[in-house]
Amino acid sequence: MADSNSNLHIVIGDRPAEVCKKLADFIVDDMAEKTGPYHIAWSGGSTPKVLFRLLTEDYKDKIDWSRVHSYWGDERMVPPDHEESNFRMCRELLLDQVPVGDDQIHPVATELVPDVAASAYSEMLLENLPANEDGLPVLDLNILGMGDDGHTASIFPHQMDLLTDKRICAVATHPESGQKRVTITGPVINASAKIIFLVTGQRKAEKVAQILDSKKAADELPAAYVKPNRGELYWFLDEAAYGDTTPR
Ligand code: 6PG
Repeated sequence: MADSNSNLHIVIGDRPAEVCKKLADFIVDDMAEKTGPYHIAWSGGSTPKVLFRLLTEDYKDKIDWSRVHSYWGDERMVPPDHEESNFRMCRELLLDQVPVGDDQIHPVATELVPDVAASAYSEMLLENLPANEDGLPVLDLNILGMGDDGHTASIFPHQMDLLTDKRICAVATHPESGQKRVTITGPVINASAKIIFLVTGQRKAEKVAQILDSKKAADELPAAYVKPNRGELYWFLDEAAYGDTTPR
C-alpha cells in the first residue's frame, strides 16, 4: 500500500491529455485559495509539453498569469536557446504565449559556470520565495517528473546525497552523458507547499508501483524520497504509468 499518510494523493487520467487537464484545473483551484504571487517550479523533460500546450490553448483566460512566477526544479547547463534547455521548452510552449513579464520568469543562469549558477539560483530562490522555519524557500507548486531510473529533478540514483544536501541548489551530473545540471536539493523539494509528480507512460509504471507500494526496491529511487514536510504530495498519472495493479 502507499504510505498511510494523509498528505499523499493519487490522481489518474486515461491519457496524458486528461491527466494534464486535471493538473491545469488543480492549478486554477490552488491559485484561487491563495492571494498574491504564485510561485511554480516547472519540470523539464518531455512529459510537461502536453501540460504547457494545454495551458496555452485553454487556460490563457482561466489563470491570472500576472500572479504566476516561473522557476525550474532543475536545468541543464546549456544555453537558454539550446534544444535541451528546460527553460527554452517552457518559454516556447507556454511563457511566450501567456501574459507574463520577464520579471516573472526566473531561469537558471546557465551562462555561468555550474557551481556559480547553483549558488546564484539558491540566492534568487531565497530572495523571491517565502521561507519556512528552516530557512528554506517554499514554492507554492513544485511540478516534478520522474525518469525511467527513478530520478527526479536532477537528483539521480548515483547522487542520492543530493536528497539531504544542506544547500538550496547543487550541481548534478547526468549518469550517462556526464552533462552538468543545476538542481534544487531534496530538502527544498520537500519544503514545497504542494509537490506534483506528473508522470505518464507505461515505461514508468514499474518504478511508480515500487514507490507507491513502498517496495524495498524504491530505496534506490530518488523520487521515493519526495515526501513534503508540511505540504501535500500528488501523483498525477495516466493509466499507463499507474499500471494495472490492484487499487492502492
Ligand atoms: C530533466 C527533468 C527530469 C525529467 C525526468 C522525466 O531535466 O530531464 O527535470 O527530472 O522530469 O527525466 O523526463 P521525461 O518527461 O522526458 O520522461
